[in-house]
Amino acid sequence: MDGTLTANDLSHIVTADKAHVWHHLSQHKPWETSDPNILIEGKGMRVWNQNGKEHLDAVSGAVWTVNVGYGREEIARAVYDQLCKMNYFAGAAGTVPGALFAERLIEKMPGQSRVYYCNSGSEANEKAFKMVRQIAHKRHGGKKHKILYRDRDYHGTTIGCLSAGGQDERNAQYGPFAPGFVRVPHCLEYRRHEQDGAPVENYGEWAANQIEEVILREGPDTVGALCLEPVTAGGGVIVPPEGYWPRVQEICRKYDILLHIDEVVCGVGRTGTWFGYQHYGVEPDMVTMAKGVASGYAAIACLTTTEAVFDMFKTDAADPMDYFRDISTFGGCTAGPAAAMENMRIIEDEDLLGSTTRMGAYMLERLEELKGKHAIIGDVRGKGLFLGAELVTDRDTKDPVEEARVKAVVADCMGQGLIIGATNRSVPGKNNTLCFSPALIATKDDIDQIIDGVDGALTRVFG
Ligand SMILES: Cc1ncc(COP(=O)(O)O)c(C=O)c1O
Repeated sequence: MDGTLTANDLSHIVTADKAHVWHHLSQHKPWETSDPNILIEGKGMRVWNQNGKEHLDAVSGAVWTVNVGYGREEIARAVYDQLCKMNYFAGAAGTVPGALFAERLIEKMPGQSRVYYCNSGSEANEKAFKMVRQIAHKRHGGKKHKILYRDRDYHGTTIGCLSAGGQDERNAQYGPFAPGFVRVPHCLEYRRHEQDGAPVENYGEWAANQIEEVILREGPDTVGALCLEPVTAGGGVIVPPEGYWPRVQEICRKYDILLHIDEVVCGVGRTGTWFGYQHYGVEPDMVTMAKGVASGYAAIACLTTTEAVFDMFKTDAADPMDYFRDISTFGGCTAGPAAAMENMRIIEDEDLLGSTTRMGAYMLERLEELKGKHAIIGDVRGKGLFLGAELVTDRDTKDPVEEARVKAVVADCMGQGLIIGATNRSVPGKNNTLCFSPALIATKDDIDQIIDGVDGALTRVFG
């Protein structure tokens, strides 16, 4: 860590933080007698806190975001140059990086053709929900307005997104929610024993058919869209089972239901393809993305759509209500697309998609080894550098490990200077999955260090 901040500066920063910052997702009571972690500097996969302590970050900024790693000066320079030239204009007009990044992005997404800029994953999902609702009004007399979402999926923090939230602990105490959102069952094969009638064979197809059952129950003429994560993130790192996605696509087409894929976590490389859905040959109508789009170097989120969806919003220029009447003030910031363009160039030049596939396979293999050693690990799963290990007290009953002990593993790793994650205020009684999402630049050595750290933590916590 460089020495630009003196001990006095650092002490002042900690005091100011403790006095005035309301941290995200945090219970502040313990910080009355201890200090929060304040990150001073990052380089590659490592970050340093106010005490100069080095940490290996196995979760890309805690929430699957810093995909190309810390300290990328080329992104900072691209943003600086753009801000000096033209920092902002509301999105009814265009900007140079806005146009150029849209072109580059759409090249990676055959079938998609339009990019709508905004500034967070939640906001992108809200835009998609609004489009579904407007299409229902324009074409179906308001009737086809329901939006289906899946148990265990998360789509954001706003009341609209929580209405589509499949994580009951995250939603608790924030209701009442918006009407017209309907839940479909999850597709976590490891926990199929908790789902009535779930078969051992062809589980993926069965899980998709559960969506059809909900559609038939609600009435297909009332359902406008289905919103799914390609691989569920905070709900337990759920890789969809074989046969799931093709059947989902078939069902959406059969009932004229728009397929909205939430790529906020998987988008732009996390699973080894540009987008998670591209592993499964799916053709979505709408895609939302945020975190990895600019790896956290600037706030940017995008909603992409097919030309067919876009066309529905320009059918009658004489009708003052015909177009998508929506704006995102900060969707007009040019720092986002400028950073995103450089982020994409880095991923291509450094073959980070290929590396993610190779390193992801290696990490999954190493996690399997850990499972062989620690009976407390019931299941390991993942795609690319997006992995999880579910902890259970008994491999036969699959009873989840008590949350306090999962937290103890995370805390032990932190003590070692290794930042890992765990499902958190997500599914009641099921906050028992350790989460790993190292930056796409992770090497075998980095992965070995992560695995060794977790190995030690599991031994200390569970024996
Ligand atoms: C799958 C998914 N969608 C949407 C969001 C919301 O994104 P944001 O926090 O940028 O609003 C998240 C955030 O974790 C997410 O994991």
